Amino acid sequence: MRKLKDIRPIEFKEGFLYVLNQLKLPLQEEWIKLESLEDYEKAIKDMIVRGAPLIGIVGAYGFYVGIKDGLDYKEVVDRLKKTRPTAVNLFWALDRMEKFYLLNKDNPDILNKLLKEAQRIELEDYHANRSIGGYGEVLIPKKARILTHCNTGSLATAGWGTALGVIRSAYENGKDIIVYVDETRPYLQGSRLTAWELSQEGIPHYIITDSSAGFLMSKGEIDLIVVGADRITLNGDVANKIGTYSLAVLAKHHGIPFYVAAPTSTFDLTLERGEDIPIEERSQDEVKRCSGCVVAPDSSKAVNYSFDVTPSEYISAIITEKGIIDKPDKEKILKFFGKKIKE
Ligand code: MRU
Repeated sequence: MRKLKDIRPIEFKEGFLYVLNQLKLPLQEEWIKLESLEDYEKAIKDMIVRGAPLIGIVGAYGFYVGIKDGLDYKEVVDRLKKTRPTAVNLFWALDRMEKFYLLNKDNPDILNKLLKEAQRIELEDYHANRSIGGYGEVLIPKKARILTHCNTGSLATAGWGTALGVIRSAYENGKDIIVYVDETRPYLQGSRLTAWELSQEGIPHYIITDSSAGFLMSKGEIDLIVVGADRITLNGDVANKIGTYSLAVLAKHHGIPFYVAAPTSTFDLTLERGEDIPIEERSQDEVKRCSGCVVAPDSSKAVNYSFDVTPSEYISAIITEKGIIDKPDKEKILKFFGKKIKE
């Protein structure tokens, strides 16, 4: 078994949460101390921390800090929920913290209990990722060229990662893999963050421009694709980083397996289908500038949807910490969760 590093994007110490500033990677490893609720709102909104599971975890710590600072719990939840709309993990974690608070608010040790609950959410996510990796790596052949999009690794979670966790687990188990990393315009989560993680681990990889993916598939150079998710609806539709949908359509055209890896906290069973998912639109400046450099005429307007929706018919399987949902649809998802609820 190969030995891998233990990259973690956050650390709670001496009463504060420290987060690795993802805006500065890969050039600089800067840790930022989050003190007030405003710091938490800014860290999530400005993408100092990002990735569906991680913003849920940071949101949970933010809830603790808001209550510690004497704010009303409803205000804390509202403010944190307004930061980013698409990844359901943020809403899931805040709902969990709110319920926990309402059940325990008269306990004199409530603050300590809230902190423990946030830490539990973080720890559970790490173990969920290890489990996703275990289930998912079975789908990876001994020798494989794997395409991935965005960053779904340690930096997007409590550690290890979802789709990148599957890749890590395959590498850990000695598989001979090469990872093709979509650079993922405009924020460059692929080239800045995924490539940074893979470099740290010594996992062989190539960065490609997003527009190269189809050509590589047509040349038979991709064996499978694995991506993460920000929200999965009842019928198995998946919202993920913009560009995921194009990859899924191309994969189907070329007969390439297309896998989604996500914890069960990414499922939103209150929504029937992908069209119901709120899709974040971010500033045009993210498209018109690259690392501060202007790359477009000032007079041009840009469209910047941060996510797209991949219909379930394009998805070969969804890999979760509780098992794999093959060719997902509403019936299978209901059965999957029904079974787990009964247990
Ligand atoms: O805008 P981001 O960087 O927060 O988007 C991240 C993604 O789309 C990831 O693919 C998704 O959150 C899964 S992360 C484990």
